[in-house]
Amino acid sequence: MGMATYRFKLARSHSNAEKHFTLELDSRMTVLDALFIIQRELDPSLSFRCSCRVGMCGTCAMRINWMPRLACQTRVETLNAESITIEPLASLPVAKDLVVDLGPFFDKWKKVRPALHPKNKDSKELAIVPPDSEFGKQALVKRDCITCGACYSVCGITGSNEAYLGPAAINRAMLRLLDPRDGNVEDRVNALNDENGVWRCHTQFNCVAACPKNINLTDSIMKMKRAMLFPKRLYDK
Ligand code: SF4
Ligand code: FES
Repeated sequence: MGMATYRFKLARSHSNAEKHFTLELDSRMTVLDALFIIQRELDPSLSFRCSCRVGMCGTCAMRINWMPRLACQTRVETLNAESITIEPLASLPVAKDLVVDLGPFFDKWKKVRPALHPKNKDSKELAIVPPDSEFGKQALVKRDCITCGACYSVCGITGSNEAYLGPAAINRAMLRLLDPRDGNVEDRVNALNDENGVWRCHTQFNCVAACPKNINLTDSIMKMKRAMLFPKRLYDK
């Protein structure tokens, strides 16, 4: 606690170079607070993205000391370092400085048809999902994705194969497949069972380590691999 000196090294896209800043900060401040100070007082051209500032929107994900993290949720004292290196997420095109284009991430997200496709569109009955049902239990620990792209950026497979669906899209597909209210099994199974679907995962767990919402993505991918081998249950749900 208290004030401390931190040295920041920031990736800058336009000059293909880094910029260094030394700041005196209250250790409880976040990396996002530091970026605002730099932009306001030292370098107005610095670009970064944020919105909610409370860990809900996922827009401030960036590499902080070589790990994808949410800048608004990373207090500088928790990094246990005087030097803080900040870079854009890996494996995504850089728009400017710390801002990446999440287009490739959302292209995969769209492939699994992420919205609910109701089984019975005309039903007026309230669809109740009991919390102790299989979907209720899975949803509780897998539903909090904020589409920050951290898991996608840190995945070793995505880094070498741009077509791979990636962990977040697979997790989303799993939630829809388990959802008793949803009727679109075929599109999701086709995307998951594709050559760039679940079978590309090499179980490296990088996504699990990176997810700011603590979603066990490798578990979701393993479950979907098993479901691709024994799909009958999905069609019978
Ligand atoms: S699964 Fe986690 S790391 Fe991946 S996009 Fe969602 S919140 Fe971010
Ligand atoms: S600004 Fe929304 S998660 Fe950080």
